[in-house]
Amino acid sequence: MTIAPVQRSTSLGSSAWTDARLILALEEVVEKELDRHLKVAKEWMPHEFVPWSRGRDFPGVLDGEAWEPGDSKVTPLGRVSLVVNLLTEDNLPSYHHEIATMFGREGAWGTWVHRWTAEEGRHGIAIRDYLLTTRAVDPDELERARMSHMSEGFASDNAHSMLQSVAYVAFQELATRISHRNTGHYAGCPLADQLLAKIANDENLHMVFYRNLLKAALEIAPDQAMRAVADVVTDFRMPGHGIPGFERAAAQIALGGVYNLRIHHDDVLQPVLRHLKVMEIGGLGPEGLRAQEELGVFLDGLDAQATKFDERQAARLARVAARKQ
Ligand SMILES: [Fe+2]
Ligand SMILES: [Fe+2]
Repeated sequence: MTIAPVQRSTSLGSSAWTDARLILALEEVVEKELDRHLKVAKEWMPHEFVPWSRGRDFPGVLDGEAWEPGDSKVTPLGRVSLVVNLLTEDNLPSYHHEIATMFGREGAWGTWVHRWTAEEGRHGIAIRDYLLTTRAVDPDELERARMSHMSEGFASDNAHSMLQSVAYVAFQELATRISHRNTGHYAGCPLADQLLAKIANDENLHMVFYRNLLKAALEIAPDQAMRAVADVVTDFRMPGHGIPGFERAAAQIALGGVYNLRIHHDDVLQPVLRHLKVMEIGGLGPEGLRAQEELGVFLDGLDAQATKFDERQAARLARVAARKQ
């Protein structure tokens, strides 16, 4: 599809960039990124990561064996984290609704929305199959948590802004990647690690797609895009924040080193911001400059907070080690 040459907001005036115009202006970039994505995304089979031979019937119609915590050697941290990751993936119908409403279902945008949804779909399928065949978690509890979480649905914090939506998913896909990857490291099961590495690879390609889109947005509408990045970064929360017992699980996940402030700052926010050279972008108008400044102040504060968290964590681990001696 050919569109009119993109004009820079400096000559156009940033207020001219409505969501509808941005979606049109970015369609060519979406087309290019979609092509690149389809070339690099390798087909993989979720069922190959599921140890079907280890599966056993559960009580009920098949009169199988009731679940017991000792059925699996997956670590307590791995179990908590796998459940949070799975329930987050489970809310895919709501995420699809949100991005299809924002980006549309036509043209390259629509092709991306559907392809992305299909790729995300296998994450929940694979993790659930793995958890049920290995009996890593209580299946009744898991099902009740899924029902409760999906019944709440998910509403994007950024549905009012196309640029904020793009900025959010760029960071969120990387956050999800890191969360899956670290869960694999701490799960105590080589197969879970392999499966989660595969899923994390998908999430990484999603991040690259959205990050490149955000790069283009920063070029065509720098002030508005800078504002969007600042707003998203300063008010970021994980997509699974509505999961029953999320706060408690998130605290365990933070203490266990799967996902915490340090990881959020160093492995999620900074890589995207550095890649896009967000703090070095020049030629901004007053609104863009203000947003860039706010972002800098926020990142410094977050870094300091993360250092405090690290210190408390180190002290806690030292106390635990001393008690063991
Ligand atoms: Fe996913
Ligand atoms: Fe993803």
